[in-house]
Amino acid sequence: MIPESFIQELLSRIDIVDVVERHVPLRKAGTNFSACCPFHSEKTPSFTVSPSKQFYHCFGCGAHGSAIGFVMQYSGLGFIETVEELAANAGLQVPRQIATRRLEEAKKAPLTEFMAQAAKFYRDQLKTNSRAIDYLKGRGLSGEIAARFGLGYAPDGWQNLDQVFPDYKAAELAECGLVIDNEQGRRYDRFRDRIMFPILDQRGNVIAFGGRVLDSGEPKYLNSPETPLFEKGRELYGLPQARKAIHDSGAAIVVEGYMDVVGLAQLGVENVVASLGTATTGMHLQKLFRLTDRVVYCFDRDSAGDKAAWRAMETSLEYLADNKSVEILQMPGSQDPDEFIREHGKEAFLVYAKNATRLSEFMIRGLEKNANPSTAEGRAQLIHAAKPLLQRVAAPVLRVQLTKAIAATAQLSQAEVEAGCGLKPLSFGRRAPPHSTQRPAARTLVHQLLENVLHHPERAARLPLELIAGDSPEEAALRAIADAVDHGVLFTGDSASGGARIGQLLEYFRDTQHEALLAQHASALVTADSDFDEAAMELEFNDALERLRHVGLRHEIDLLNAKAHGEGLTAEEQQRRLSLLAQKTAAASKQAQRE
Ligand code: UTP
Ligand code: MN
Repeated sequence: MIPESFIQELLSRIDIVDVVERHVPLRKAGTNFSACCPFHSEKTPSFTVSPSKQFYHCFGCGAHGSAIGFVMQYSGLGFIETVEELAANAGLQVPRQIATRRLEEAKKAPLTEFMAQAAKFYRDQLKTNSRAIDYLKGRGLSGEIAARFGLGYAPDGWQNLDQVFPDYKAAELAECGLVIDNEQGRRYDRFRDRIMFPILDQRGNVIAFGGRVLDSGEPKYLNSPETPLFEKGRELYGLPQARKAIHDSGAAIVVEGYMDVVGLAQLGVENVVASLGTATTGMHLQKLFRLTDRVVYCFDRDSAGDKAAWRAMETSLEYLADNKSVEILQMPGSQDPDEFIREHGKEAFLVYAKNATRLSEFMIRGLEKNANPSTAEGRAQLIHAAKPLLQRVAAPVLRVQLTKAIAATAQLSQAEVEAGCGLKPLSFGRRAPPHSTQRPAARTLVHQLLENVLHHPERAARLPLELIAGDSPEEAALRAIADAVDHGVLFTGDSASGGARIGQLLEYFRDTQHEALLAQHASALVTADSDFDEAAMELEFNDALERLRHVGLRHEIDLLNAKAHGEGLTAEEQQRRLSLLAQKTAAASKQAQRE
């Protein structure tokens, strides 16, 4: 863990314009800087960097974030690595807590060496074992492909690794999952009489194995346990081998099994990785989207495969951008991709893959299948089921497209679906300046407060929180920001602009329930940045506060009135009611003066 205060300090010391400019040449455009977006291809610049907000936003593809977010997205580094890199550039010492990560790296190094030795042993064993060779040949694999994937064979017998390692009792052997210690304290090899599929990390180190039986024994595949080297849900089998083909072909195909990857590669389809029998995760998708814009999930056509496809769709919604696509390919009959390509050949597979179902179509078809849209109840059910899905879609234009398609099926208007599902309508590009009368009427009081507070987080200290007690996401976010400001977490270093900035705020709320909502509002602000009239913003904020108080006032008066008609008021309540009414009249006349 990195202390939050350090993140805030780091962000207050660096300038997002410098950080972005290291990778992307920027041009000044008003108070902002702009460039062609590095995250999607475009000819006219819609990528905007705001120095005052310390935030970037592309209104082409929706990419956005702080300086940290930019480096993560641009370089594909993890959060901690990014913070380390930015801190090093800024000459800041990263606090001690992070040093544990370096320690972990150091601890991993010997384990990696053990895994490499084991992999070599298994490869050598394969060369001399005719039964294993025949098995692989029987599955159509050449020696060349076996070598490309580093396939091996773990011979039968309980302690073969004893010949490989000088100390079979070494703790590391158990730590990297190569041996198992039973309850009697006896140690034996985990993998025996199995074809070995090494799983590699980015750098090509062996971090785990999958081992397949040669006959019909159970389990069919035995996998390494989670170890310091191997975290399931992070890794994709075959990625190092597929990297170049994914980039060159412009698509990544995700299959379920080891043999699918190897079998497809054998027949010349090389842009394939496997999710290792686990559900596909957001992490997988992010990894692949760094290499390509198109990801095709390929699932077997059984009930488990159908479920996996639906889950993959759900997971993907959050990670889609308008320039990224996810498609679902369900194999015909009961064949898996390996069986299909062996029977029908490469061309047939490619044609099939090319016609994969778009995520949107897959989703709508699935919704229709589960709720009968020919009845009113069915259509209501459909909207009910669609709501959480639509809310997860991050890509603005795609969301509108999906909303329209669902609206058509449900016999509703787009606006009705948006309202029913609590979606914010799409707004393109520049907005009217805040003091303009053209401001959309639908912008509610809390929206106004939220955007104002994002513009100047320190204003959150002025919010009457007792009046912002609702459970809407906006109100929850306002309370959370006020809390952060109150605890001083957003004000570190000697920020010249005198307060926290959106970039800092967003980092503070990274991985929280407020992140998406705040990013959405922040993006709108950056787009409108150069139009901002500070005085008008301040007026708007004061005005919103007053209206909020007015609403509170009216509510309390209503309560007291109701009580007066019912059980009657105490003398104290009577007093209170009179004072509230006076306040209300005063506020109304002030309002009238201003208008
Ligand atoms: P499948 O059962 O579909 O196997 O499992 P497969 O890939 O078609 O393998 P072959 O063609 O019979 O050799 C798909 C994936 O699920 C995981 C493995 O990652 C496998 O590749 N799995 C399956 C296990 O981890 N353990 C098992 O016992 C079975
Ligand atoms: Mn198979």
